[in-house]
Amino acid sequence: MTVRAFRPDDAARVAEIQRAAPEASQWSVQSDPSDVCLVIERERVEGFLLCRQIAPGEVEILNLAVDPGARRQGLARRLLQAALERCPGIWYLEVRESNAAAQKLYEMLGFRVCGRRTGYYKNPTETGIVMTRIHDANGGLS
Ligand SMILES: CC(C)(COP(=O)(O)OP(=O)(O)OC[C@H]1O[C@@H](n2cnc3c(N)ncnc32)[C@H](O)[C@@H]1OP(=O)(O)O)[C@@H](O)C(=O)NCCC(=O)NCCS
Repeated sequence: MTVRAFRPDDAARVAEIQRAAPEASQWSVQSDPSDVCLVIERERVEGFLLCRQIAPGEVEILNLAVDPGARRQGLARRLLQAALERCPGIWYLEVRESNAAAQKLYEMLGFRVCGRRTGYYKNPTETGIVMTRIHDANGGLS
């Protein structure tokens, strides 16, 4: 199992995984230089994580999805751990209120709820839960 940077030839497979994950956000991989996209690969790409550096030391998760046939095998956890190691600092994300699976994953990795945005999501309209994860200078979570 390998976590590596997204390459342009991954685009079709990443789009396929995104189409199969309606709970994922609609952010797609662009050429914005602030974006960091990682993929996780076995025989083929099974998942991806898209993040954006929003300020020095601050990163926002824009999208995360794993192929439905490869879920509950620790792939998203591996992707997130790799990204958190590469980019220490303050992390933010929004997640649908109904998406208990993703919230549990994020909590396991040290994210905590810091806000709620009513009506943040459309189709269907739903509250967005805002989560953050802060890494202190000693490497612990504060
Ligand atoms: C959320 C998602 C990325 C998780 O990917 P995954 O590779 O299956 O997750 P992992 O196997 O790494 O799971 C790690 C932990 O997260 C939690 N978790 C993951 N999926 C879960 C589920 N369906 N139900 C409950 N807990 C779940 C568990 O605590 C799990 O640990 P465990 O398997 O030891 O119990 C995947 O379900 C997905 O692609 N969903 C659709 C897109 C989406 O919701 N993206 C997030 C948008 S914010």
